[in-house]
Parts: sequence; structure tokens; C-alpha cells
Amino acid sequence: MYKITTVGGDGIGPEVMKGTIAILKSLDLNLDFIEMEAGCDCLKKNGTTIPEETIKSAKKSDATLFGAITTVANEKSPIIALRKNLDVYANLRPVKSFVGINCLYPKLNFYIVRENTEGLYSEIEYCSADEKTAIAHRVVSKKASKKIIDFTFKQATENKRDKVTCVHKANVLKKTDGIFKESFYKIAKNYPNIKVEDYYVDTMAMYLIQKPEYFDYIVTTNLFGDILSDEAAGLVGGLGITPSGNIGDKHGLFEPVHGSAPDIAGKNVSNPMAMILSSGMMLDFLNEKYYSNQVRKAVENVLKKKKIATPDLGGRNKTMDVVNEVVNELKSL
Ligand code: NAI
Ligand code: MG
Repeated sequence: MYKITTVGGDGIGPEVMKGTIAILKSLDLNLDFIEMEAGCDCLKKNGTTIPEETIKSAKKSDATLFGAITTVANEKSPIIALRKNLDVYANLRPVKSFVGINCLYPKLNFYIVRENTEGLYSEIEYCSADEKTAIAHRVVSKKASKKIIDFTFKQATENKRDKVTCVHKANVLKKTDGIFKESFYKIAKNYPNIKVEDYYVDTMAMYLIQKPEYFDYIVTTNLFGDILSDEAAGLVGGLGITPSGNIGDKHGLFEPVHGSAPDIAGKNVSNPMAMILSSGMMLDFLNEKYYSNQVRKAVENVLKKKKIATPDLGGRNKTMDVVNEVVNELKSL
């Protein structure tokens, strides 16, 4: 039996989570879901954006599923707190096109790996005494750089991909990205069969539009990875279909790339596919490859048939219509 902590969060988070749990429950797998709280609504109720019990439950579970939260100014970010507490240092973001989705690039299949524990998201910020200047620390350590870069090369090797691209801005951020770039080429020596190269992040932003088919694995620091992965989501049909996994040596935390989408929250029109695909990545992490493939196949078939789709993909259906269609598809596989 697997213990799975679930954190629905705010906005569309709880609805995509509810649908995803229904799908996982339809599988012939013994999963025990432990529902925990975090986010803006949690702050109003419990006085904190992330109660200690949520972190404890995630630590004790075999994996955690996270929906989305609405950011609260001047409060701790629950997702960053979870990523740090679980030491899930690698944020793996597949960029994959699906048949049936009208998008800029119908044949993409590459990965962005984003460092998850430091960089400009270290949350070390302060104001000068006169409060006229604000300063953020950008922490880049050799240790964390090595871990994320090693992870990327291992993934590329396992997935039989032959290129890893490092993205940085070492011409300006000479010390921090200097460490990142240097670590990259040092570790690359252990993987002589993989082609390596590096680009500045601004150039990469352009190449993602001009020649995204060219890439296999892109590894980068926290902020750059966050921005480039939303850009990449735009290439394959938007945030409704892009999953992600936060993976460490012990823990796994799986969440869609999107946020709480307040513009569509409460209308039951959010696309659950990103969350469902994230749960597929969780099943991969739990080594339940048969079931992860089933979930992915069912999602692919539903998208291909185009019978049932939420408005972001040009359809008119509700979140739960898509969920029910995925469950039906799973039964027929
Ligand atoms: P967002 O990702 O929530 O939404 C961006 C756009 O994509 C919106 O138009 C939204 O309707 C659409 N969208 C997102 N997910 C969708 C889905 N599943 N189905 C259909 N359409 C979808 O980003 P936004 O609006 O910038 O941020 C909203 C809130 O979420 C903010 O408070 C932000 O800080 C937070 N956020 C939280 C994240 C997390 O929990 N990991 C990640 C990103 C943002
Ligand atoms: Mg983001």
C-alpha cells in the first residue's frame, strides 16, 4: 500500500486534485490518500500558509500530490517550503505535444530540469535601513549544482537521449552562474556519449521559439527554469496539459506547472490533464510503470479523440467530464 499526501490548495487546485484522485482510485492499486492543507485559504483558517502537519505528512508518505496555491504577499510560499523540506532538488518538466491539440509545435518531446532548492528563489530578501532598496540573494552552491546536473545526465541516459543543454547567464552573473556552468562541464566528462552545450538564458528564450525540436534535456537554475518552462508550455498547448515532478533522493512531490488560476476558479472548467499527468509521473516515481503508462495512454486517447475537452483546449466541457472520460478510457484499454 502506498501512502499519498494530497494538497489541493486554492482556486482550481482542489478541483483538479479531486478529479485526479478519482482516476487514481479507479486503478487496481492500493493507494491511501491523506488530505492536507496549504495556501491562501489555509492561512485564513489556520493562520499559516503551510501547517507543520502538512510537511510531516508529506515526509512520511511515499509521495505527495500538490494542486496549486494562490500566493500571499509577505507569507512563506508553501510549495517552496515543501520542496525544501523534502529536499526534492530536481524539478522535472516534460514538454510534450499531444495529437489532437492545436499548438505551435505538434511534435515536441523534451525535458526542462530546473534546480529547485536555491538560486533566486532562496527567499533571502531584505530592505535597506531606509527601505529605499530591496535586495535578494541568489544562492548557487557547487553541491546543489552537482546534484541537479547529475540528475539530468542520469535521466538523459535512462531515456536514451543524446544531448544536454545547460542554460545560464554566466556572462553577467559571473560567480553564481560561473559555478553552475563549471559544474556542468565537469560532470559532463562522466557522460562521454552525451553531446553537451550551453546557452545564455536570453538566447535560449529565443531558441525555444525558433528551434524547440532541437533540444533533449535542458538543465538550469531555479528562476530561469520557472520562466522557460511556462514558455515551453505555450509551445505545446498551454498550462492545462503540462505536468511536473519534484524529485529528490528520498521524496517525490508532483504538481501541475500551472497556478491557482483565479480567473476560472469555481467554474469547474479547469483542465485536469496537467494534474492527471503529474500523477502519472508520481506512478513512475513509485515504480508502477504499468499504471503510469495506462494513465498516460488514457490521457493521450482522450486528447486525440477530441470529444470531451475543457475551454482552454477549445472545448465546452467541465473538469469532471474530462475526468470521467479518462476513467472510461482506462477501462477500455
Ligand atoms: P496560473 O498558472 O494560475 O494561470 C495562468 C493562465 O493559465 C490563466 O489564464 C489560467 O486560467 C490558465 N490556466 C492555468 N491552469 C489552467 C488549467 N488547468 N486549465 C485551464 N486554464 C488554466 O498563473 P497566474 O494567473 O499567473 O497565477 C495565479 C496564482 O497562482 C498566483 O497567486 C500565483 O502566484 C500562483 N501560482 C502558484 C503556483 C503553484 O501553486 N505552484 C505556480 C504558479 C503560480
Ligand atoms: Mg511557474
